[in-house]
Amino acid sequence: MVPTPDLQNDRYRVIVVPLAAPLSPEGSALIGRIGAGFSPQDLLLSLTDTSLTCHLHALSPNLLRDRIQMISAASPRPGSLAGAVAVLGGLADAVDRQTSYTIHDGKRVYAGFTAERKVIGRSEKVQRRGGCYYAGDHQFSREENRLSGVPVDSIVCGDSEEVLSRLPDNCVDLVLTSPPYNFGLSYHEGDDGRHWDAYFSKLFSILDQCVRVLKFGGRCLVNIQPLFSDNIPTHHLISQHLLLRRMIWKGEILWEKNNYNCKYTAWGSWKSPSAPYLKYTWEFIEVFSKGDLKKTGPKEGIDITADEFKAWVVARWSIGPERQMKRYNHPAMFPEELVERALKLFSYQGDLVLDPFNGVGTTTLVARRLQRRFIGVDLSPEYCATARERLSNRGT
Ligand SMILES: C[S@@+](CC[C@H](N)C(=O)[O-])C[C@H]1O[C@@H](n2cnc3c(N)ncnc32)[C@H](O)[C@@H]1O
Repeated sequence: MVPTPDLQNDRYRVIVVPLAAPLSPEGSALIGRIGAGFSPQDLLLSLTDTSLTCHLHALSPNLLRDRIQMISAASPRPGSLAGAVAVLGGLADAVDRQTSYTIHDGKRVYAGFTAERKVIGRSEKVQRRGGCYYAGDHQFSREENRLSGVPVDSIVCGDSEEVLSRLPDNCVDLVLTSPPYNFGLSYHEGDDGRHWDAYFSKLFSILDQCVRVLKFGGRCLVNIQPLFSDNIPTHHLISQHLLLRRMIWKGEILWEKNNYNCKYTAWGSWKSPSAPYLKYTWEFIEVFSKGDLKKTGPKEGIDITADEFKAWVVARWSIGPERQMKRYNHPAMFPEELVERALKLFSYQGDLVLDPFNGVGTTTLVARRLQRRFIGVDLSPEYCATARERLSNRGT
């Protein structure tokens, strides 16, 4: 007797092949023989006058097709089996169309393969563990304020700590930025090679302003590359600071620049364990949320496509470095694609985007193109002029 499949435990994937007409007794017998050749733990066939149902757990590739071929070919009256062979062929086609499975012991396992990893009562367990415990006692208000202090859709020249202090609390939807890395680059203004204490003290004051002006649920994305030669994990220190400010860590994106230019031995040993230097071909983008991981917004403000969403939630973004730095006379620009991904994935059209280290204005340029409102701040009058020029040339 064929055991009744226990569908409650999700062991099987169910495939139903409809019949145009009831099968002949020989055809029904053929299906019985094919079914009997499999362990009921793996595959069960059940036939009615109107359909063939397959409860499928695991199967070696092509085994079903081979069995159909072998058993029907051995029949003394193959013509009487035509209907059953067609139905079984339809079943084999339907099995081939199943693209979601895992491989175990050479078989494709179509269902139940996550059962042993399934966490029961996930949300209670998160609560018991104290998910986001470091942000639980935040004092963030949900009240939102209209922008004032600087004009909307503007490039503001000045020190961000001062410029942002003019903005009210809770008025910005998303901060996307890349601060100077303190590598010693030649920016027009400012010192990109200060003592780390002074560097972090200034950076943290500006990040504190960013946290203050963000709305409840607003996002803060900081692109950074640590300075490995100084053994300063800048990305960790920034994250630690934002955690202390009760921001919720949403994740970390690896910006894979495929930059293999860095030398093997610049700060370490060659072919010796004495001091091997680790090469990084990527940078980091730390993603934080204020108050809540969820950010509400109008449905019509969503502009990310299904394919973009599927590709970009995989948190490794392969995007080459910006190639136009000479043209814009800036040593450390964002590629436009990086900004586009960040804005479409984390903000809605109409949102207010802030870049407190706006450089020559890649964030503000892409924000305008994607119908976000924006504010870009930079110390350098030259960079601000270029940012405005880029907006007037291509921003609409
Ligand atoms: C890494 S660059 C940002 C480049 C930008 N993402 C782009 O695509 O052009 C950092 C920028 O921060 C600016 N900067 C440094 N200190 C600043 C401060 N205190 N306030 C505002 N901008 C500052 C520098 O002038 C520089 O343009």
